[in-house]
Amino acid sequence: MRYLTFALAKGRLAKNTLEILEKIGITCEEMKDKDTRKLIFVNEELKLKFFLAKAGDVPTYVEYGAADIGVVGKDTILEEGRDILEVVDLGMGKCRMCVCGPKSAEELLKHHDMIRVASKYPNIAKDYFNNKKHQTVEIIKLNGSVELAPIVGLSEVIVDIVETGSTLRENGLDVLEEICPLSARMVVNQVSMKMENARIMKLISELKTVL
Ligand code: PRP
Repeated sequence: MRYLTFALAKGRLAKNTLEILEKIGITCEEMKDKDTRKLIFVNEELKLKFFLAKAGDVPTYVEYGAADIGVVGKDTILEEGRDILEVVDLGMGKCRMCVCGPKSAEELLKHHDMIRVASKYPNIAKDYFNNKKHQTVEIIKLNGSVELAPIVGLSEVIVDIVETGSTLRENGLDVLEEICPLSARMVVNQVSMKMENARIMKLISELKTVL
């Protein structure tokens, strides 16, 4: 039996994923050691390997087959646009991708004005404005704290994740339009799905019973 390799997005998502996997008897004790600098972890008995990667890199590892399976947010899947199979909605980390800004920007959206849109997700923003709204906009890529952009005058609106809404509230911004719901998803490499179909389908059906 060959190893099945999992790429997990570093952080809370990886921790929660391991908890779900434990419920179906998949454990990886050496991964729980907080002080370890190891990058790859093995469960010899089940012939499984796990590694942690930056969220944005998980779809890349899975598309190229360096990982058979990945767990990552839908935001990252949409932004990266990789050729991978999305197989399970894990229901964790539920939030929304939204267009946000000051209430005054509502009119600019309504009238399809040429506006600037700041985002950590330039591809999602581009796709939404070009293909769904048919509005020509200038996209400005940022790397975080995107809510700053409309406050300091970098852009009229932002495209960003809204979870509780408190970041927006505390900065005098609102959700102006909703783009899509988000949550953590399991993704699979196209070839692995064919070559290891029985093992992967069993994993998917067992996961669904505990979700
Ligand atoms: C995310 C997101 C929002 C915030 C939304 O940022 O980009 O800023 O969380 O959460 P809320 O609706 O519960 O306030 P994150 O904390 O990941 O950091 P970042 O700003 O560096 O992207």
